[in-house]
Amino acid sequence: MIRLDHVSLRYEDGPDVLSDVNLHLAEGSFHFLTGPSGAGKTSLLKLIFLAHRASAGRVSIMGHDIATLSRHQMSLTRRQIGVIFQDFRLIDHLSVYENVALPLKIAGQREGRYQKDVLELLQWVGLGQRIDALPATLSGGEKQRAAIARAVITRPRLIVADEPTGNVDPEMGLRLIRLLDELNKMGTTILLATHDQQLWTHFAHPRLHLEAAQVHMAKPQEAL
Ligand SMILES: Nc1ncnc2c1ncn2[C@@H]1O[C@H](COP(=O)(O)OP(=O)(O)O)[C@@H](O)[C@H]1O
Ligand SMILES: [Mg+2]
Repeated sequence: MIRLDHVSLRYEDGPDVLSDVNLHLAEGSFHFLTGPSGAGKTSLLKLIFLAHRASAGRVSIMGHDIATLSRHQMSLTRRQIGVIFQDFRLIDHLSVYENVALPLKIAGQREGRYQKDVLELLQWVGLGQRIDALPATLSGGEKQRAAIARAVITRPRLIVADEPTGNVDPEMGLRLIRLLDELNKMGTTILLATHDQQLWTHFAHPRLHLEAAQVHMAKPQEAL
């Protein structure tokens, strides 16, 4: 699903943020990505959700070497990746329903076809009572659930989440990861960056640790 071979990344003439990283994440896997602030977690995720190009090496996503993809193939691949950003990035003037439906609308689907799916998903993430609310009126946890719903509405094969629990309380953080866990059980590959030890110690998923421009597999952690 995700393969990095000898990947390096630096910004302009800065130091290597990633240096000769090799990584292979299987379809259907769930990995945490940890590492100190500034280690390069967001940068690594950006390579994977095709928002940034490596300075050297090869990035393959879903079997495609992304250097060889046409712009069109790139956007088709990108559509199979759901991204959850730390700062939510909900659109202020759209309701919860409209925010979540937006990726389908952009993909050219008619509302008649997706309305039921969007409403069901909003129920599933616990926002059934908030469908007409504007983002500004939502709590942190509600915003994050809306962001998750928007990331998964297109049934992506891969979900990349960048510190998705950074702005919610620990209890809500655990609920959010359980949601992602359920999607993973249905086959979605998940890669989730977090610096929150509370989170990953509760789950048996393997953890990648990024430090000093290198990624290594951390020791398995006993569930608490
Ligand atoms: N667009 C950018 N231009 C220049 N430097 C950047 C850019 N994005 C990130 N960096 C630098 O790359 C390093 C890794 O950042 P980042 O990937 O955001 O780390 P993390 O997500 O682990 O906190 C930091 O030193 C940061 O300042
Ligand atoms: Mg980051």
